[in-house]
Amino acid sequence: MKAVIEELEKRRANARLGGGQKRIDAQHSRGKLTARERIELLMDEESFEEYDMYVEHRCVEFGMGETKTPGDGVVTGWGTINGRVVYVFAKDFTVFGGSLSEAHAKKITKIQDMALKNRAPIIGVFDAGGARIQEGVDALGGYGEVFQRNVMSSGVIPQISIIMGPCAGGDVYSPAMTDFIFMVRNTSYMFVTGPDVVKTVTNETVTAEELGGAKVHTSKSSVADRAYDNDVEALLQMRRLLDFLPSNNQAGVPVLPTRDPANRVDHSLDTLVPDNPNSPYDMRELIAKVADEGDFFEIQDAFAKNIVIGFARMEGHTVGVVANQPMILAGVLDSDASRKAARFVRFCDCFEIPIVTFVDVPGFLPGTAQEYGGLIKHGAKLLFAYTEATVPKVTVITRKAYGGAYDVMSSKHIRGDVNYAWPTAEIAVMGAKGAVEIIYRSELGDADKIAERIKEYERRFANPFVAAERGYIDEVILPRNTRIRVARALNMLRNKTLENPWKKHDNIPL
Ligand code: HXC
Repeated sequence: MKAVIEELEKRRANARLGGGQKRIDAQHSRGKLTARERIELLMDEESFEEYDMYVEHRCVEFGMGETKTPGDGVVTGWGTINGRVVYVFAKDFTVFGGSLSEAHAKKITKIQDMALKNRAPIIGVFDAGGARIQEGVDALGGYGEVFQRNVMSSGVIPQISIIMGPCAGGDVYSPAMTDFIFMVRNTSYMFVTGPDVVKTVTNETVTAEELGGAKVHTSKSSVADRAYDNDVEALLQMRRLLDFLPSNNQAGVPVLPTRDPANRVDHSLDTLVPDNPNSPYDMRELIAKVADEGDFFEIQDAFAKNIVIGFARMEGHTVGVVANQPMILAGVLDSDASRKAARFVRFCDCFEIPIVTFVDVPGFLPGTAQEYGGLIKHGAKLLFAYTEATVPKVTVITRKAYGGAYDVMSSKHIRGDVNYAWPTAEIAVMGAKGAVEIIYRSELGDADKIAERIKEYERRFANPFVAAERGYIDEVILPRNTRIRVARALNMLRNKTLENPWKKHDNIPL
């Protein structure tokens, strides 16, 4: 028996070495952790159980029959994060550059199947060179199997991708179909084809970082949701994110104990909105002052900053927060902001996470750049997402709610459940100046008359009461009481039941 156990330990130790000490050292010298080190940091201590560590590829082409490494370039299994079950696979760059073979794909799909069957989140850690070139169509087929499972799991269990090295070719599409992608600055990059192919096809000279680094994907393309400075920070933040997410679409949001009283009054909010309606203020301050312990996990913080999205908690329960940001472009809705928020609203609705919306929006951004870029379709994405959402929706209008953007931002008319306004709210078709210039065009030559008309329009519409008189606003609340009012509304909505008519799926304007 002793010999058998020794043999097992030997095989395990060999498998844990992956591509060997030299390649592990090379990985470390680039500032990257190995696949197993990453999993160790991500999961609760000693909770990870590895599967399939002896699996080898079956390829014999190009001398591959002689080069087999147990595990075949991916570490798979399950463990817990703060006590909750999570499935994980992590590409091992030390083995054939983490490239995907048929056997490697089967390890991943086994874990994907288990995650779906057992309704628990799955996290993929990417650090790989794409399809195993020596395997040809077997590798391509393997990707297809992974993609199919990504789609079947979408909206059922949270799927998270962390990019911690190269992520090229076939490897990019699986993350792209998951719920969130996170990257590590300076060591990770994602692209369909790398700089060499780009040079050949388009004659463009570009570095890997310029083509698909963390900065590009978090601020330009919006492919990635956030970037971190190193592997350790990224993995610890994933543990924090997981605490906000339900295990599946029927589990309900996790509830964490909080010492922050729901009836906390914050007098500083009474002066958050400046007297000058055109002066900005930081909507993040409001979010921090309303959320439990000011804890806010922001998503896409570097893209379309005119809208802020992320997770917070109210009385320990996770909520999704969507908020116009007056600090950037006056909080206007443009194509990027609409797309960003639409996807987030849909994520929340999939997983039964209530949505709290803070509104200060001067409308949709006009101009050829936006119209040529498809603002109508992109704006409609956000409208569609809010409109179809059946989760509890609580809205607070702090200042401007103009035009179509008023309707879009979780208004009463698209099934907002509880709609509050601060006394500083202005709910109108457009700003006073623009409105007067249209309806009193013939008086434009008379500056005094126009000024008087603007004042008159402001008196009539630059307040929340016209909407409140019609019941479109349920109550005009004191800013200082926002936390308690939102918390009470969410409590009241805890058993909300609302179903959309049966359909195979909807046809959101993509
Ligand atoms: C087999 C691979 C590999 C691959 C890397 N390796 N990529 N082996 N198939 N796709 C191996 C290398 O031979 C090397 O083995 C080890 O991994 C490390 O690679 P290096 O090139 O030395 O590392 P580095 O300089 O860091 O460059 C990493 C890299 C580069 C940028 C990822 O390796 C690269 O460009 N790889 C190819 C990327 C690619 O074009 N993949 C195919 C995409 S097509 P040794 O033994 O020396 O350690 C695709 C289509 C699928 O994926 C479509 C499905 C929808």
